[in-house]
Amino acid sequence: MSIVSQKPIGVFDSGLGGLTVLESLRARLPDEDFIYFSDARHLPYGDKPEPFIRTRAQQIAAVLAECGCKAIVVACNTATAAAAEGIRAQIVIPVVALEPAIKPAATLTRNGILGVLATTHTLASRRFAQLVKTHAAGTTVIVQACPGLAEAIESEGPKSAKVETLLDAYVRPLASANADVVVLGCTHYPWVKAGIARRLLPETTVVDTGEAVARQLERRLKEENLLGGRGQLRFATSGDALQVGATLARLCGIFAPVESWAI
Ligand code: DGL
Repeated sequence: MSIVSQKPIGVFDSGLGGLTVLESLRARLPDEDFIYFSDARHLPYGDKPEPFIRTRAQQIAAVLAECGCKAIVVACNTATAAAAEGIRAQIVIPVVALEPAIKPAATLTRNGILGVLATTHTLASRRFAQLVKTHAAGTTVIVQACPGLAEAIESEGPKSAKVETLLDAYVRPLASANADVVVLGCTHYPWVKAGIARRLLPETTVVDTGEAVARQLERRLKEENLLGGRGQLRFATSGDALQVGATLARLCGIFAPVESWAI
């Protein structure tokens, strides 16, 4: 095993939504070391201007690369839409970025109606339009932006009254449109997958991207001969480290120190 293969993999999101992805990464690659960075100071990304998200995501990726990460996972659909190309142009290590699972959804639908829940920015992005054009041209795609949902999941909790109200507003229109496949196009939404499924028609398939990203990361690490590590996990944030630590414990039952990084 090379020295480089012993280095960690950097994973980041605007907040703790990327932990839904990290869970799949660790399940598939239990021996890898990960550093998870939550840009809590700037949560949410979803309603911010594209240049801001692009600059932030590129800065974070650069810092993770400088820290010695052997690969980076952009565990945020919004950051991918704004910055995946820029990040790949600026660093040489493998970058795995996730985007809404339109391609698998288009193969799963039986009635040709797909619903997509994501941030305002993701749905308005050129990248998303291209994704739909390439993989779902023959289907009807109903998009639903969900402002406020990612923050409410973190601040109030996945089962809070506020989250329930937002889910009523955002999910019911997809059921009314008869969507038989719904894509979770934001890494925060798997926290509320049960609440989303409950509001959809009973036979609806709900798709997220965690496992596909884990497979893609494994493939890239193998290609580059970079598999290896000790299964360690570190957390860092641009926000209030104590508060992020408390949210981490509340949302995922992980009790771990959170480092404060001035990015
Ligand atoms: N979790 C992020 C995503 O996948 C977005 C949440 C936010 O708006 O910051 O798009």
